[in-house]
Amino acid sequence: PSFVVVAVDGPAGSGKSSVSKATARELGFDYLDTGAAYRGFALHCLERGVDTLGPGDVIETLPRFEYSIGIDPDNYFVKVDSEIVTNDIREPRITGVVSNIARVPEVREYMVNLFRSIIAGSDKPGIVVEGRDITTVVAPDAQARILLTASEEARMERRAAELSGESSATTAQQLSYRDAQDSKVVDFMNAADGVITIDSTNLDFDQTVTAVASFVRSSM
Ligand code: C5P
Repeated sequence: PSFVVVAVDGPAGSGKSSVSKATARELGFDYLDTGAAYRGFALHCLERGVDTLGPGDVIETLPRFEYSIGIDPDNYFVKVDSEIVTNDIREPRITGVVSNIARVPEVREYMVNLFRSIIAGSDKPGIVVEGRDITTVVAPDAQARILLTASEEARMERRAAELSGESSATTAQQLSYRDAQDSKVVDFMNAADGVITIDSTNLDFDQTVTAVASFVRSSM
């Protein structure tokens, strides 16, 4: 059997990162978190004082961006410019500006190529790739293409539970603002042709992983 690519898209707070990682583990696959690269590049820009609202400066710093990521689901790490930044890229200062750099077409093109070369470097029987444009742009030929959704209410609750330090009103506002910004660039709210929707609103974590893994097995 040939190398299996599983493409998973969805909005923020849909649980796609943790579900994708657990599914990869269950299937013996690698796991690629594509949002981490956009976050890593946003961090690179902030550290160098590059204005994320200035596309010209952002594009100019792309060649200086050094990035690596652990794709073994049991050894996840993110490295930017020789530093481990696995936790730093989750900080609100990054989440607040990442959409600014993600809407620059040159940045997206760079990222798509980066992701394809990381996928090609996997030595497992397959890889679960998770993001916003995986089913449509990064890997439209993937054997299994999934849109992972959940009601807005469920997504807010999950994200608030993740970030227990912040008030849930702020979290909710930031989440919908980011989804609205991101949706202008890629449509991850509606399933493209051939993409199946898995709605996790009424599923717990394990049930969601089981649903995703069964769909992948049936597509292999
Ligand atoms: O998935 P995560 O919330 O970590 O993604 C961070 C940001 O990266 C998103 O808000 C979006 O702007 C961008 N992104 C993207 N395309 C992807 C993955 C992430 O534009 N495939």
